[in-house]
Amino acid sequence: MSATANLARIAALTSLKPATAIVLGSGLGGFVDTAEEAVTIPYSELDGFPPPGVSGHAGALVLSRIAGCPVAILSGRAHYYESGRADVMRPALATVAALGADTVILTNSAGSLRQDMPPGSVMLIDDHIAFSGRNPLIGEPNEARFVGMTEAYDGKLRDRARAAAEAEGITCPGGVYIWFSGPSFETPAEIRAARALGADAVGMSTVPETILARFLGLKVLGLSAITNFAAGMTGAELSHDETKAVAPEGGAKLARILTRFLSDQAA
Ligand code: HPA
Repeated sequence: MSATANLARIAALTSLKPATAIVLGSGLGGFVDTAEEAVTIPYSELDGFPPPGVSGHAGALVLSRIAGCPVAILSGRAHYYESGRADVMRPALATVAALGADTVILTNSAGSLRQDMPPGSVMLIDDHIAFSGRNPLIGEPNEARFVGMTEAYDGKLRDRARAAAEAEGITCPGGVYIWFSGPSFETPAEIRAARALGADAVGMSTVPETILARFLGLKVLGLSAITNFAAGMTGAELSHDETKAVAPEGGAKLARILTRFLSDQAA
């Protein structure tokens, strides 16, 4: 992949210098409609960007302003389970870093392991557990691969996100996100194990992107829109259709938190 070729392609279309990149998870794509003066570049026109994947994922880099703040929105992500490659988002993240972003906001939809965090809630990711055992930096040739992950999710950004949620009147508990590879959902026994390990929410994305972002020197903020109680908590079977259908509810709250967060940043 060539970040340089991507930079030239982008520079031909816009001079916007994004300070913040945002990865939109499944069902959260509507946020992109709030972008002002948007320049939209399909992933297919950018080297190394993910091919079209799970339904509900548009697949475009959108350079624009939200609440006055210059942003690079990665609308649509690729998952480890689509290709078996944990580093599938690396070229996209490297490109937004090369464009000048110093922060990436990772969003996802997730299952809740907590009774007090029902579908429609938003969780601020305080920390994660890479339960899939995969790492996107395997094979990275030099010592930069030994990335510190003690504060993977930046403390100051989390404080600002909490303040933004409070200003919007939205309850946004902090919690630990655990990454299962998918694409099958978890079993009830796996969810009980995850809870015993300290997890609050479960999903199939984000963690490899956080590791890549830290490797690339980006600060990370993570937010989960809760779409369902995790396996075994209600007796109902889980389905992708259900998670997609519920995602916009938490997604709308998440979008309000993000917009407030960005307008505070622009102020
Ligand atoms: N498990 C894994 N990924 C998910 C879930 C879940 O329960 N809900 C939304 N994404």
